[in-house]
Amino acid sequence: MNTTDRVVSGMRPTGALHLGHYHGALKNWVQLQSQHPCLFFVADWHALTTHYESPGSIGNNVWEMVIDWLAAGLDPAKAVLFLQSRIPEHAELHVLLSMSTPLGWLERVPTYKDQQERLSDRDLSTYGFLGYPLLQSADILIYRAAWVPVGEDQVPHIELTREVARRFNHLYGEAPAPAAQAAARKRGETLENTPVLPEPQALLTAASRLCGIDGQKMSKSYGNAIAMREEPASVTKKIRTMPTDPARVRRSDPGDPGRCPVWNLHQVYSAEDVRTWVQQGCRSASIGCLDCKQPVIDAVIQETAVFIERARPYQEDPSQLHSIVAAGCERAREIAQTTMRDVRSAIGLGYV
Ligand code: TRP
Ligand code: SF4
Repeated sequence: MNTTDRVVSGMRPTGALHLGHYHGALKNWVQLQSQHPCLFFVADWHALTTHYESPGSIGNNVWEMVIDWLAAGLDPAKAVLFLQSRIPEHAELHVLLSMSTPLGWLERVPTYKDQQERLSDRDLSTYGFLGYPLLQSADILIYRAAWVPVGEDQVPHIELTREVARRFNHLYGEAPAPAAQAAARKRGETLENTPVLPEPQALLTAASRLCGIDGQKMSKSYGNAIAMREEPASVTKKIRTMPTDPARVRRSDPGDPGRCPVWNLHQVYSAEDVRTWVQQGCRSASIGCLDCKQPVIDAVIQETAVFIERARPYQEDPSQLHSIVAAGCERAREIAQTTMRDVRSAIGLGYV
């Protein structure tokens, strides 16, 4: 019953986004908005699962992130942009799904133990943190999404969403007519209930993985990121001071781009001819590392200039930003309310 072809995805509000977010996710969202009905939301409740002790910065992070979405080219005329916490129906569906979700399903989600260990400075033995992926399931199922564009790390959450939907449909879906059931039984088959909540699928893209300026995964917490709206002088400084292949101690030492984080940036930002120039120049020591970095610096500055320009009106007049999100919330709420009417009546809560 995935009749809608709808795409839903969310991001936790981490504040100003970096180029890793752009190349890993946003660029893809921008493409999708012209191909499917799309809903993209800020998962501010999800931020609270790990930052419940310090919620102070969530508000600012929400708006900075939406500015970056618009800077990336998300278009409120094409995609519905909204805020999770403004649609309390997500919480209602979460609580209803929680009734029939076995604890074991949540405990065995790989991100659960991983994150608890990784963020061991915080107490994450909370109900909310265990329920993180179930809230995510509610976020998706409430829009009856067909597709969920996410990174590899989120695939287990989409798998869980599918299992949760399947169980719900099994428990509460509309049973097939008795005659059809009898006929099926004769054939040795069983008929499924009509799904109330269609099962979504993860939409994995061949996203270009962008490394940070130290060659590790780009991440704000590693301090190795280039922001989407980084100033040109700062872009230049960050890339000029990037480490290169350690074998190139002197300008005359040949190197291997395969051992150099700058090469990763060339793979994202440079055309074939430049990449050939890098490969030959590095291996023969006919170019220096600063020569090699210059085309990347130019390309990044060209890209960030577009983001800075698109963000400007929203920084100058945040009321525009607020009305875009308010309009998005209205549209999201309509869909969410329709689903919830069906969900309540399927469970037998039609008396409310
Ligand atoms: N857990 C996702 C992440 O960390 C964010 C998220 C919350 C999400 N709800 C969602 C993603 C629903 C897709 C669909 O990236
Ligand atoms: Fe890296 Fe380029 Fe220097 Fe080679 S020439 S080590 S690819 S920066």
